[in-house]
Amino acid sequence: MRIALVFGGRSGEHDVSVVSARAVWRGIDCHRHEVLPMAVDRSGRWANADTSWRVLEQSKDRADEVLSFEGAQRLDSRLIEEKIDVVIPMLHGPFGEDGVMQGLFEALDLPYVGCDHSASAVCMDKALTKRLIVQAGLPTGPWVETDRYQWKNDPNGVRARAKTLALPLFVKPARLGSSVGISRVGSLDDLDRGVEIALNHDDRLVIEAGIDAREIEIAVLGNEEPRASIPGEVVPGDTFYSYEDKYLDDSCQLLAPAPVSEDEAVQARRLATEAFAALGCSGMARVDLFLERSSNDFLINEVNTIPGFTPISMYPRLWQLTGLDFPELLEELMQLALRRHGLRSGSRLNPA
Ligand SMILES: Nc1ncnc2c1ncn2[C@@H]1O[C@H](COP(=O)(O)OP(=O)(O)O)[C@@H](O)[C@H]1O
Ligand SMILES: [Mg+2]
Repeated sequence: MRIALVFGGRSGEHDVSVVSARAVWRGIDCHRHEVLPMAVDRSGRWANADTSWRVLEQSKDRADEVLSFEGAQRLDSRLIEEKIDVVIPMLHGPFGEDGVMQGLFEALDLPYVGCDHSASAVCMDKALTKRLIVQAGLPTGPWVETDRYQWKNDPNGVRARAKTLALPLFVKPARLGSSVGISRVGSLDDLDRGVEIALNHDDRLVIEAGIDAREIEIAVLGNEEPRASIPGEVVPGDTFYSYEDKYLDDSCQLLAPAPVSEDEAVQARRLATEAFAALGCSGMARVDLFLERSSNDFLINEVNTIPGFTPISMYPRLWQLTGLDFPELLEELMQLALRRHGLRSGSRLNPA
């Protein structure tokens, strides 16, 4: 197969995406497949083939800060002019993981790895995710939603609704990742500040009750019949799993497998596949759960549709421990992409 490997992109997770893409490239069986790297710079423009190779081939742990590639184009013409069998969008965060790129591949009629445009958009949105989780009868913590308009016109109304939640609160931009713009608010006096910070990143916010919990992650893989990996656990080094924790310090620990009981593992895996289905996911997703310390109950926190694929990332590690090594995982993801594309084109050509 000829595989377009798309990486970098406009989000704050540009660097992580490059590191993920390098791991994917090394994991692809180059005797069976040909990789066409496609680097997207921070302004959203697509590098040419030479620059894309140069960025991909560096063996560093971190990517350089590339604001814009010289001679980059609004779109890589290889996507249109060359034969491409499948796209692997190894892009994290807004403009890559949120359905925007997936919509582009739909429009170009190209099979692509991971969730489709609509599930990607839903999972990027913490408010929509929670609504669908609740609607499916699945557990998630209490929250309220607000936006820039409400905050400007009726801040007291927003404060009053937030007050109904137990402290501490977590104030989050509705559609971001990497813990960017998230504040832990220990007293209502600090709520305004948290809201202002989050509004710097998105027009819509969620305010959640803080859950005193362990953070359990499950890797899910499949289309109609998704499978769940064994659980992993993140032990934050900070008061919560912050941006610094995720990418800068070494203080946070990733435990795989998670030290949970057999019962808890079964429950977590079932919840993860149910959440995957409820949100319309296909291909892959990493479902992040809270295991509340006081009740020992699981709650669904969020679903990441393009989880990290770096050598230390949880998603590939969990599959490795569940019996699927990295090259096999990539093969299966591409097969899932082809199957979904085949079914869709079939139904379009032959409407029932
Ligand atoms: N309601 C909550 N209660 C306790 N901790 C939370 C809550 N929401 C988020 N956190 C902490 O903040 C981190 C980032 O929040 P998350 O919703 O996962 O956003 P992101 O999409 O940026 O990863 C979590 O991993 C967790 O440590
Ligand atoms: Mg998270």
